[in-house]
Amino acid sequence: MQSSEIRRKFLEFYQSRGHAVIPSAPIVPENDPTTLFNSSGMQPLVPYLLGQTHPAGKRLVNSQKSFRAPDIEEVGDNRHTTFFEMLGNWSLGDYFKKEQLPWIFEFLTKELGLDPQRLCVSVFEGTKDVPRDEESVEIWKSLGFSDDRIFFYGAKKNWWSRSGEPEKMPPGEPGGPDSEMFFDFGPERKIHESSQCKDQPCHPNCDCGRYLEIANSVFMQYVKKDDGTLAELPNKNVDFGGGLERLTAATIDNPDIFQTDMFTSLYRYIEALTGKKYGAVAEETRAMRIICDHVKAAVMMSADGVIPSNKTQGYVLRRLIRRSLLYGRQLGLTHDFLYVGKLVAPVAEIYKEAYPEVLQQTDAIAVILQEEALRFGKSLERGLSEIEKVKTLDGKIAFYLYESYGFPWEMTEEIAREKGQQVARAQFEEEFKKHQELSRTAARGMFKGGLADHGEKTTQLHTATHLLHAALRKVLGEHVGQKGSNITAERLRFDFSHPGKLTNEELEGVEGLVNEKIKEDLAVTFVVMDKEEALNSGALAFFGERYGDKVKVYSIGSFSKEICGGPHVSFTGTLGHFTIVKGEALGAGVRRIYAMLQ
Ligand code: SER
Repeated sequence: MQSSEIRRKFLEFYQSRGHAVIPSAPIVPENDPTTLFNSSGMQPLVPYLLGQTHPAGKRLVNSQKSFRAPDIEEVGDNRHTTFFEMLGNWSLGDYFKKEQLPWIFEFLTKELGLDPQRLCVSVFEGTKDVPRDEESVEIWKSLGFSDDRIFFYGAKKNWWSRSGEPEKMPPGEPGGPDSEMFFDFGPERKIHESSQCKDQPCHPNCDCGRYLEIANSVFMQYVKKDDGTLAELPNKNVDFGGGLERLTAATIDNPDIFQTDMFTSLYRYIEALTGKKYGAVAEETRAMRIICDHVKAAVMMSADGVIPSNKTQGYVLRRLIRRSLLYGRQLGLTHDFLYVGKLVAPVAEIYKEAYPEVLQQTDAIAVILQEEALRFGKSLERGLSEIEKVKTLDGKIAFYLYESYGFPWEMTEEIAREKGQQVARAQFEEEFKKHQELSRTAARGMFKGGLADHGEKTTQLHTATHLLHAALRKVLGEHVGQKGSNITAERLRFDFSHPGKLTNEELEGVEGLVNEKIKEDLAVTFVVMDKEEALNSGALAFFGERYGDKVKVYSIGSFSKEICGGPHVSFTGTLGHFTIVKGEALGAGVRRIYAMLQ
């Protein structure tokens, strides 16, 4: 089956069951500074899974452009990609297991025509805090799954939250047990026997690739509390995700997702360019897959406004392009780097229905990618000439090449081999680990905006931030506009436009006004309205809204009115005493304030 047909069928299937179709959010989250990329359909829906009202209702369905940067090194096998499309449906406190599991089973077997005998399922085996999921087991049995096709796993495999198992979830993070569905490509292909795990027994979560995970129903009913325990969410939610590339592979009974219509035109182009054949030589097939995935991801990212740089998303984009070019070298594409730009049109063609924004920008994206490729071409020449100068390529130099020129390990090894040298992989990996630690530390400091979590204290400080914003505009004037904010459980930080230093009187005035509004115990309420209507009504807006044209507008009494996703407290009286602890200049015309609640 073609991927576009599967996408359409999925949306229609859930639409006919009362779901509103919501558009895919951009790959770069618009209002969530805790992460660089949307990596699943639920990511933009977190506030609603936590209990806020979604403007489109309680049943939602969509197809979400997703990008998983941590998977970059895994790309090259038959089923991993960095960019993928996730089909998702959600129940926000509406239906639960007994609707979701039969529906998705019906979709896979009736709509997509998958043989039920080739499906198996996994179920959460339980922990000391959360019981084994007997209800799902009963439902799967009633749908015809015999015991030998129902598998139990613990939290590592059958618990889903954005941060993994319950112990890894930060306060305010939603999560829950899940039930996955796998398509079995069959024992006759002898996939397991020819894999690295051949000495271990095969099972659905085995790394061999005989089974492909194609559907994941998460029963999102818990939230991590500030004290580290799990609490029940106000709603029992369903968060379903299924990778479109994998679903397509299952429908054509081919375990290689690169042979679906979502990739074939891309590798065919590379075949034509290099004269090599996909599938003929393992290393070359791997290189082709990496190029297909990385260029596609780079195109989709560029279509959403990312440009190559040395920071955040731009750096990831740069890395994708560089890696594509390096793997291109393995296929003999050593000088003409412009092919990355020529792959833009086939990518746009694949997504012309679902994401027309790619087609609309084909030329512009091609220019961006080609310019970056040419820049890297020069850097590559320099890197290679540096290699010529060194006598021994040790692991440290290999890492330097990786870091400075983006040379992956395999490529350095191959250069080294040409020079008759060996490079110690262990030393390279040691350097790599140190680097990872450093970037993790940097990342912690880098994601400076927004809410650190959705815990009670952070939520209180979020409401206080709205009060502060309104108070600043009252005391200093309407030129004050939000430039950024960062809220943790300990304090809020608010950046705003204002030309000069605040006088003591002004600071006291702002602080006093916020405390006055806290004492008045004002109700915090929201309404859903059209974006235009919201802006015309005087609501302050700083971020593009995310879901169609409908937005939520939070009001605090008649004092403050802002477009915002929440969460907030219900009454200001619960906030305690507000104190400004520090004010400073951030740059030309931008000031920063730190404040706390006690
Ligand atoms: N959030 C789950 C996942 O990403 C299901 O949508 O797998």
